[in-house]
Amino acid sequence: MKHYIPVSRVEGEASRQAHCDLPAGTYEREMSKEGFFGPAAFFHHRHPPTGWINFEGPLRPRALDLTRLAAGETSPWAATEVLANAACRVRFLRLPRSMRKLARNADGDDLLFVHSGEAGLFCDFGHLAVRAGDYVLLPRGTMWRLEVNNPVDVLLIESTNASYMLPDKGLVGPHAIFDPAMLDTPRIDDAFKAQQSATQEWQVEVKRRGAISTITFPFNPLDAIGWHGELAPVRINVRDIRPLMSHRYHLPPSAHTTFVSSRFVVCTFAPRPFETDPKALKVPFFHNNDDYDEILFYHAGDFFSRDNIHPGMLTYHPAGFTHGPHPKALTRMFEQPKPATDEYAVMIDTRDPLDVTDAGLAVEWSGYVDSWKPK
Ligand SMILES: [Fe+2]
Repeated sequence: MKHYIPVSRVEGEASRQAHCDLPAGTYEREMSKEGFFGPAAFFHHRHPPTGWINFEGPLRPRALDLTRLAAGETSPWAATEVLANAACRVRFLRLPRSMRKLARNADGDDLLFVHSGEAGLFCDFGHLAVRAGDYVLLPRGTMWRLEVNNPVDVLLIESTNASYMLPDKGLVGPHAIFDPAMLDTPRIDDAFKAQQSATQEWQVEVKRRGAISTITFPFNPLDAIGWHGELAPVRINVRDIRPLMSHRYHLPPSAHTTFVSSRFVVCTFAPRPFETDPKALKVPFFHNNDDYDEILFYHAGDFFSRDNIHPGMLTYHPAGFTHGPHPKALTRMFEQPKPATDEYAVMIDTRDPLDVTDAGLAVEWSGYVDSWKPK
């Protein structure tokens, strides 16, 4: 039980319900602890809190265009790392053709988010087809490869030294958002048996402490005829996620948590109806989520009308400044022309600061910091 310093006040002219009933002409900003789970304050500002005219120094919102990264490598360990800290590493794997070697990550679990393409995953546990929109969670130590049908782009999220788990779904129970029965696992099917070989040499690239070692076998080590247990890779497609929403309250991003690790969470934004209560906010509220760095990867859709942001881009908002809707989206704060959002995006919120790699900075769209300026 944590004992935050108890303060519960209403000061000056203020709404008493977060994200609703804002005083006329004001912009709400949330300042909070522990993501959206700790104590918070809600300010009613006269100006949009992103209305800066200049932003200097190492801290800044960044947008990286991962579609500009080179394709061609067929090893996940050669994929470009764009952001990392001790608990989480984010890479973008662009596979134009099948992996020629098996991969094994001895540093942590890997979460693959398939942004585009189609492939067959072959691993210790069998065969599983993967396609755009799939999350595939590979437990640490799994030997695997992708056999590419259509070139695939994968956001690869390593949970270093910690396991991915499901979030506590609290009031709505374990079958909400997606039912655990929707998780698919690899099968020992004909395709899996057909790739087994007693004579073909296979190599496994093992990543341990960031370094690659190669182990050669005179046969294909994906040769299990069966297995049993409670541990296996799982797959769920974003189109099978049934997001929570409230018609009277703009839910915080944490309502869309899909996977949790010890020092970060992965959330999924999937299409959902806009709020209908006339006094409820219909865009994300301004916030400075000061305990977390935030990554958003854009998979499909219109992303609340952000100019110059297209599928395959990733934005990074380090802790330390307020972010929120862009000016165009702000005009629709209480009235949306469409009945529902149509965006799919993957959010990664990390408890520890991330470093952007030089390779990530090489594909930065430097105009992003100015994109909140009124047009
Ligand atoms: Fe945020």
